[in-house]
Amino acid sequence: MTRIIIDCDPGHDDMMAIMLASASDKIDLLGVTTVAGNQTGDKTFENALRILTLIKEEIPVARGADKPLLRELVTAPEFHGQSGLDGAELPEPGIKPLHIDAVDFIIDMLEESLEKIVLVPTGPLTNIAMVLLKNPDIKHKIERIVLMGGGMHDSNVTPAAEFNIYVDPEAAKIVFGSGVPITMVGLDVTNRALMSFEEIEGIVADNGVISSKVGPLLKFFANANKKIFGLNGAPIHDALAVAAVIDPTVVETKFLNVQVEVSSELTRGATVVDIYGATSNSPNVDVALEVDTPKFVHFMVDSIRKLDKKFA
Ligand code: BDR
Ligand code: CA
Repeated sequence: MTRIIIDCDPGHDDMMAIMLASASDKIDLLGVTTVAGNQTGDKTFENALRILTLIKEEIPVARGADKPLLRELVTAPEFHGQSGLDGAELPEPGIKPLHIDAVDFIIDMLEESLEKIVLVPTGPLTNIAMVLLKNPDIKHKIERIVLMGGGMHDSNVTPAAEFNIYVDPEAAKIVFGSGVPITMVGLDVTNRALMSFEEIEGIVADNGVISSKVGPLLKFFANANKKIFGLNGAPIHDALAVAAVIDPTVVETKFLNVQVEVSSELTRGATVVDIYGATSNSPNVDVALEVDTPKFVHFMVDSIRKLDKKFA
């Protein structure tokens, strides 16, 4: 079992990432930490508690940064709604969060663990950068960071940048420059990690304890992506990062140099991938360039069915 911590800003696809990890017998989910991103810190934290309450996952939850390291927070209500999880009513939070900060929680877990831990950030990288700034030696306890963010060709929030990296580019720069092994699961693959409207209807039709909530939530997310990008379904970005931990063959990666743009406003948060080796910079990131979409969708449908069965 791979020991992971998910650092997220739920968010529909963050929710799917948590559910996939929870349902997998290959993952030991040690904790969930939250960061402001898709919505404010209050909302992403509450959403994480609601998701874990729904799936009765009693794992540690710790709240992290309310804003990026240096910039004002940018949120994404056009994709995730005012609550950050519009589309269905999730249960009131029924689990008690930890009273320590996400950054300290992650550091403690890394320090106490005999084995290395994989970090799976699916929001802006603020908490992860703060972990590395606060305790630089701790990086030797991080097996790998498998993050959803960035992209080589694709962007979504500006013509140059993906949302998670755009929101806190300085944090991303610290993480990408840390020397920790990194897999970047970016938009080039996550835009193709698409659940079609038909596949989402299949989840709605299951009508179980979990699918009856997940179905309408995914419909909301798919409609937003259809309206804004003309996509024929919901790109489950964040869950692809978890899927790549469960089964690395779900994506194909190339080890390349990636730098994050922090100076220019026009290209703020761009992940500049040196695909042709135009610089003498050493590779620092395994960049995901291909995805096995049918395998990924199978993982997703299967995990929701497993959770439905557990609570039937
Ligand atoms: C990323 O931005 C957020 O809106 C999603 O949750 C995902 O993490 C996609 O660009
Ligand atoms: Ca996210």
